[in-house]
Amino acid sequence: MIRHKVTLIPGEGIGPEVAAATRHILEATGVQIDWEEIAGRSDSSSDQEKTVNQAAVESVRRNRVALKGPMATAIAGGAPSVNVALRKTLDLYSNLRPVKNMPGVKSHFENVNLILVRENTEDLYSGLEHEVVPGVVESLKIITERASTRIAKFAFEYAKHHGRKKIHAIHKANIMKLSDGLFLRSVRAVAAQFPDIEYKELIVDNACMQIVMDPLQFDMLLLPNLYGDVMSDLAAGLVGGLGVVPSANIGDECAMFEAVHGTAPDIAGKGLANPTALLMSSILMLDHLGERNTAQRIQNALERVYREAKHTTRDVGGKAGIEEFADAVIDALNRK
Ligand code: NAI
Repeated sequence: MIRHKVTLIPGEGIGPEVAAATRHILEATGVQIDWEEIAGRSDSSSDQEKTVNQAAVESVRRNRVALKGPMATAIAGGAPSVNVALRKTLDLYSNLRPVKNMPGVKSHFENVNLILVRENTEDLYSGLEHEVVPGVVESLKIITERASTRIAKFAFEYAKHHGRKKIHAIHKANIMKLSDGLFLRSVRAVAAQFPDIEYKELIVDNACMQIVMDPLQFDMLLLPNLYGDVMSDLAAGLVGGLGVVPSANIGDECAMFEAVHGTAPDIAGKGLANPTALLMSSILMLDHLGERNTAQRIQNALERVYREAKHTTRDVGGKAGIEEFADAVIDALNRK
């Protein structure tokens, strides 16, 4: 059996609780993981410098795989986002968001099975904003051939290795002819190398309407950063929200798996958090590590607990606390 070394960044708010529950469940499967637990934020005395912990970055670089809980970000001021800093510093350019129904979780649709691939490093998230004159600001949308090509390659390779049949590239190239135009041209060049995968294009506003009317018509969506941010949460809403979908940030050198919900300060420390999203992200991590059987075992156990609906947490209509839920998943792992 292979031993893996994984960086664990528990995060803040409910982060340490959901991280501990996830670790507990993974350990119960017998999978061999040596965890290197480390804080994501530096403990500098200055608020502005309370940003990403360089030792955490080094740890992820060394181990190449990380599991991360949520971390807080101040709105309109304060230190820059640790989450964004980690993704940028480690060049985790692909954001992978599978969206599938969880049995027993109320949702508008059944049988949804989507994969969204979002470019994670450029577009309007380049942080290039300035005031031109008082009352006028400029925010720069950066699209490069290099980043568009590598995210397209990631998406098509993913489709090939996971038996996916169709990719829609999402854009607004009718208006942003240069930037989204370059994104599309780059994607088309990659698509031409994968003739077995059906390739289509859709303007983002139409895509939003189509996906809420009939999500089953889609298989994979490939999106630049901003449209990807919006549409991946929209897609999560089709199956019951951010509490039941996983996420991965993947680069050429390393990968970081994290829940997409935040630190939930209203319930932090009360034992009420639902660890499902981080647990599902850890299932993606096990898949990435080549531990496909263990990943499938946990997925089956989790679905069983949701189907039986006796030990689910309050956010999904149950009554259980985090420990009862984690124990139920472990019990389901060990049942025939
Ligand atoms: P949030 O996701 O923390 O909370 C929104 C609502 O969902 C709250 O009522 C919360 O109790 C509930 N909730 C979230 N996760 C839950 C879970 N696992 N189990 C049960 N209930 C859950 O969003 P909010 O309040 O906008 O953000 C709080 C902080 O989290 C902010 O500082 C924000 O910047 C940060 N954040 C961090 C993210 C990350 O680290 N990737 C992602 C999103 C937000």
